[in-house]
Amino acid sequence: MSKIQKIKGFVDLFPEEAAKFTFMESAARDIFSRYGFGELRTPVLEKTELFQKSIGEDTDVVGKEMFTFPDRKDRSLTMRPEATAGVVRAFIDSKTHQPGKVSKYFTFGPMFRYERPQKGRQRQFHQINAEIFGAPEAQADAELILMLKTFLNTIGLTKLAVELNSLGCHECRPAYRQALTDYYKSKDKDNFCEDCRRRMETNPLRVLDCKVPACKELVADAPAITDHLCGECKTHFTAVKTILDGAGLEYVLNPRLVRGLDYYVRTCFEVASFDIGSQTAVAGGGRYDGLIKTLGGGDCAATGFAIGMERLAMLLDQIEAQAPDFYLAVVDGEAANQAMLFAQQLRDKGLSGNVSYGGGSMKSRMRSANKSGAKVCLIMGGDELANETITVKDMVGDEEQKTIPQSEFLAGI
Ligand code: HAM
Repeated sequence: MSKIQKIKGFVDLFPEEAAKFTFMESAARDIFSRYGFGELRTPVLEKTELFQKSIGEDTDVVGKEMFTFPDRKDRSLTMRPEATAGVVRAFIDSKTHQPGKVSKYFTFGPMFRYERPQKGRQRQFHQINAEIFGAPEAQADAELILMLKTFLNTIGLTKLAVELNSLGCHECRPAYRQALTDYYKSKDKDNFCEDCRRRMETNPLRVLDCKVPACKELVADAPAITDHLCGECKTHFTAVKTILDGAGLEYVLNPRLVRGLDYYVRTCFEVASFDIGSQTAVAGGGRYDGLIKTLGGGDCAATGFAIGMERLAMLLDQIEAQAPDFYLAVVDGEAANQAMLFAQQLRDKGLSGNVSYGGGSMKSRMRSANKSGAKVCLIMGGDELANETITVKDMVGDEEQKTIPQSEFLAGI
């Protein structure tokens, strides 16, 4: 029988690797709650139109990368490629928003994008997300960036490169789009890649984000959005920068930073880590004030970010597993049942450890005990079974091996 292969770009996480994910999640839980965020869990499957309407039809994510399929009643469903759209849908569904109220949510979980898999890029990957609803103020954007930095520092990442931009708003962006369109016209359209020629019509800002070297060169002198911001956007952006400066958080202004999702307005940012080597984005986010309304909710400002957990996991050292308290070695098959019951009593008292299921030679059992890293090896053979005793061998100190009543060992825990 041929074995069933896992799906390309999907990854199994065995305990050593999964421990890194648990570590990141508990650090995020701890830090985000200090900033007033609560956990929200949303489904991995949503109606396709949710992502089309929010992320944008012309983005790579929606155009090329979604896992979309019909359900049994021929309704189009999509495995979420990101969390923001679902969190917004849930927020609108919950009808919890009232004017002036601020809501803060974080969420963890798997996301799905049909990209070409490579190191740090998978088709199922995991994100840590944070979103703030109901706060149009620049302080909310700055708070998010400070929280993101605190989190990354806490888990041990210090060589960070924060890129910051403002994408303007619905007031000032049309004039900027026109300036960009005029600029592209001044260059020969045929010199741009096919995607960019299309983007010039649908979303001229996205051309700035193209990774094709020829396009990158052509946009090098393109007008900068930051020179076209309206008064309110300028004030907003200045406040974000002032807070970050005050906190001593270093960032680089990048007027070409547009992000791959269409919902952003004003502040947007990306964080790369030099620890990875190349400048790979470990997190990105920004403000998306219009999205709640677009998806059928009321007027409510929104801002947030997402962290790519696989990219962080690449940078984390192996997390030391805690040494188990005991290894219970059964050296006579007759004692196997009693050993299992004794191990259960140890675990009921809060100890951790493994028990060998059947009988085996002392030598092989001691090898297993050593390998397990247990603090003590408990031995149960025929004599211990008959006398209700247990032989205790200290694996870390130099205490002498002793055989004592099982009840005495239990009483000493
Ligand atoms: P994003 O920039 O598309 O933003 O994704 C955020 C992070 O997810 C990236 O910086 C990267 O670390 C990770 N990531 C993305 N695709 C993959 C992949 N195929 N494999 C591994 N990691 C990946 C968003 O998703 C927005 N929803 C962020 C946001 C929240 N904006 C506002 N609120």
